[in-house]
Amino acid sequence: MAVDQEDFTYRGRLVHLVHTRQFTRRLAEDIFDVADRARRLNTSRPGSAYLKESLVGRLALLYFVQPSTRTFLSFHAAASLLGMSTAEVRSREISSEMKGESALDSVRTFAMYHDLIIIRYPEPGFSEQCARFFLDNDLRRHVINGGSGKDDHPTQALLDLYTLHREFYSRGGIDGKRILLVGDLARGRAARSLLQLLARYEGVRLDLVSPPQVKLGDDMMSLSRKAFEDVRESEHIEDFLQDADAVYMTRVQSEYDPHIEVPESAIDSYGLTPARVATLKADAVIMHPLPRRSEIPTILDRDPRSRYWDQVENGMWARVALIAHILGSDSRIMSA
Ligand code: NCD
Repeated sequence: MAVDQEDFTYRGRLVHLVHTRQFTRRLAEDIFDVADRARRLNTSRPGSAYLKESLVGRLALLYFVQPSTRTFLSFHAAASLLGMSTAEVRSREISSEMKGESALDSVRTFAMYHDLIIIRYPEPGFSEQCARFFLDNDLRRHVINGGSGKDDHPTQALLDLYTLHREFYSRGGIDGKRILLVGDLARGRAARSLLQLLARYEGVRLDLVSPPQVKLGDDMMSLSRKAFEDVRESEHIEDFLQDADAVYMTRVQSEYDPHIEVPESAIDSYGLTPARVATLKADAVIMHPLPRRSEIPTILDRDPRSRYWDQVENGMWARVALIAHILGSDSRIMSA
């Protein structure tokens, strides 16, 4: 099987998903169609039974050795909805890595039993290393990156884009919208990843608000300057809130680089409050990959513009569709 070594595809289909940049607009939107179809199927008993026959007998391993609640459960539920069986390894401390086994030997063992390995790992690059290892050794298994270090989180980007796609579908789509990314843009892999997918759309205008200690890195900044119609930066959310079609909030990622301290006062200058949200357009949306801290107070959960709990649900369906795409059961779902 001649898999493209650059984008891990075979005849236009993803074999492995390790980088957000592997998604073209067309591919992402095809996956959204499958996600829409699957969630509709699941509203009836025969439909959900049909969905559950998609991947019966196939096994997924969730190799999640970095904290996770939502992404872990979302993949778990997505695999179950397709009828897959799942197993999990959630800590290196209780695996053979503690006996000195290399991570790649562990992964090779996982590949003996599983068709799909979903990986959340603290260091960047590990999912890609596994994907290359599988290709080099002709192991016909699949890898999905469920979040790697500070760097990339392709399935979060997919579900965030899916949320925006659904939201703006009847309002001219994502093209031309003004998107405000807020918070820890230096280390927030969710924001970094979403930005790469927004770059696939026409005329998007990007506003960035972050404390000075955690501004968007040079790599993403230069991509943004090339890809977007307009890029503005500030440390104060009030500067841009009234113009936004979507506000994407993130928390301070203090588990990385503990020497970088972001003072509470800096968080206050970007956190949402009822008074600040009052300046937002009536049809704007508020998003967050979760978990949140103080940047979105719970009182805003009742605001009709809040979409962060919908993102969680959209995430499960986007992952159903992605797994179906990678394991080749998407056309069966589309023809139901
Ligand atoms: C994000 C992550 O892990 O990067 N969360 C998630 O996957 N839903 C964002 C975060 O941890 O802040």
